[in-house]
Amino acid sequence: MTSSSKATAASIWWQAGTIYQIYPRSFQDANGDGVGDLKGIIGRLPYLHQLGVDAIWISPIFPSPMADFGYDISDYIDIDPLFGTLADFDALVEAAHAQGLRIILDLVPNHTSDAHPWFLESRSSRENPKRDWYIWRDPKPDGSAPTNWLSEFGGSAWAYDEATEQYYYHAFLDRQPDLNWRNPDVRDAIYEVMRFWMRRGVDGFRVDVIWHLIKDDQYRDNPVNPNYVAGRPPHETLITLYSADRPETQDVVAEMRQVVDEFEDRVLIGEVYLPIDRLVAYYGEDLGGAHLPFNFALLSAPWHAPDIADLIARYEAALPLGAWPNWVLGNHDRPRVATRVGEAQARVAAMLLLTLRGTSTLYYGDEIGMRHVPIAPDQVQDSFEKNVPGIGVGRDGCRTPMQWAASANAGFTSGVPWLPLDDDFRENNAAALAVDPRSILSLYVKLIALRKRTTELVFGSYDPVETQDAVLAYRRTYDDQSLLIALNFTSEPASLHVGAGEVLISTELDRDGENVPGLLELRGNEGVIVRLR
Ligand code: GLC
Repeated sequence: MTSSSKATAASIWWQAGTIYQIYPRSFQDANGDGVGDLKGIIGRLPYLHQLGVDAIWISPIFPSPMADFGYDISDYIDIDPLFGTLADFDALVEAAHAQGLRIILDLVPNHTSDAHPWFLESRSSRENPKRDWYIWRDPKPDGSAPTNWLSEFGGSAWAYDEATEQYYYHAFLDRQPDLNWRNPDVRDAIYEVMRFWMRRGVDGFRVDVIWHLIKDDQYRDNPVNPNYVAGRPPHETLITLYSADRPETQDVVAEMRQVVDEFEDRVLIGEVYLPIDRLVAYYGEDLGGAHLPFNFALLSAPWHAPDIADLIARYEAALPLGAWPNWVLGNHDRPRVATRVGEAQARVAAMLLLTLRGTSTLYYGDEIGMRHVPIAPDQVQDSFEKNVPGIGVGRDGCRTPMQWAASANAGFTSGVPWLPLDDDFRENNAAALAVDPRSILSLYVKLIALRKRTTELVFGSYDPVETQDAVLAYRRTYDDQSLLIALNFTSEPASLHVGAGEVLISTELDRDGENVPGLLELRGNEGVIVRLR
């Protein structure tokens, strides 16, 4: 394959492709109720096509009481009326596929809503056949909770059920009881759910909190975290040694992979917040686990070139043989990248994401530089913030409506948006940025397109280049053809010797084709891709 031929020609779509996460409540409202919906997404497919992404992952759209905005599911095989109907979903799959866009659904197998019929049955009596579908335990002799395990959303992870005098376990809200994945019937039921959606044409799943699925069968107390940092969420006071990432989880992941492999060309992505050495275990033995255990390292890394260089090196070194890497820059649980690293560095971050080795996942709105929006106390929607207020855990700020246009409500809704819009939307919106050849959106479009047609960026090796601390530089080489990527993480100019070449893209979008004599000069906050001669 020559460097100019299409990288996708011989590759698997999820390796060469860019994934775009849609938070459906906030993407596009088509019916004026202030909440996004499937018809809204259908209407925006041309935008996604122009952006050049290859797949969309849609956060949960299933019937739900919305205690955790869809991550509390009361029916796995239908669509919540807020988002539309199964017919709308089929129309979305058809329209997306017609444009070459894949659809990835969010699978939330760790817990259901407390309104799910399975849980209603389970809690109805100790003798109910579904009792063992959830995790029920007797109180300790003094009546207290069975273990010290903590909910990620505050307080004990055990809720007492007066009627049957037992506790049930919930890793998140008490309205999200955990399923018992040691029960084979539970496994079969969820695998059937997966088949249901794959038969409908879904191209894969992003599996919610996959590392949580199995808990200790001896129900041992979690140890105290000696490294707890004051001001962090209270659940971090314990190490989740016995409540998550148990060895048996790998068997479940392998089974899920087998279900996915019953269908052609599907992808299994796992949400895994663990240190790199544990994260890579989710590729599975002989790589029979998740195709892509999400790599969230960039979401919390200090934004300095040496730190980023170090984490890339550690990740690359930890990958098992044959594992395909991936990188994520933002999601619906974490502060927006443009706010975290600043507007100027958000462009550098874009170039980093799309030039690293591995699949890139992009969060809606990051391509237009959307900021983390401050939410007034009386406008808070997120239960995490409501349960654990005042320490900055709220996730509403990264879930605000997509800024489409300068018109009312940024073109998101004709009604009242469920979360406030950033007041910058009249300038910073997709319509305005699309016609500005120097905008961050134009940068994303160019980077995604370059990646798509450049084998070095998809399949090339990753070779770090030594630099001074301000700059992160690396080469991507395939078949003796090399690109050099140099990213200035500071606002001061910097230069480095790279060898002769030609600029393909600068983050400022004003140096295309410039000759590089050997010494590459970077402006402050500038990233550059050079084709080396
Ligand atoms: C995952 C989701 C998050 C949700 C939690 C519980 O971390 O990304 O939004 O609140 O799981 O389902």
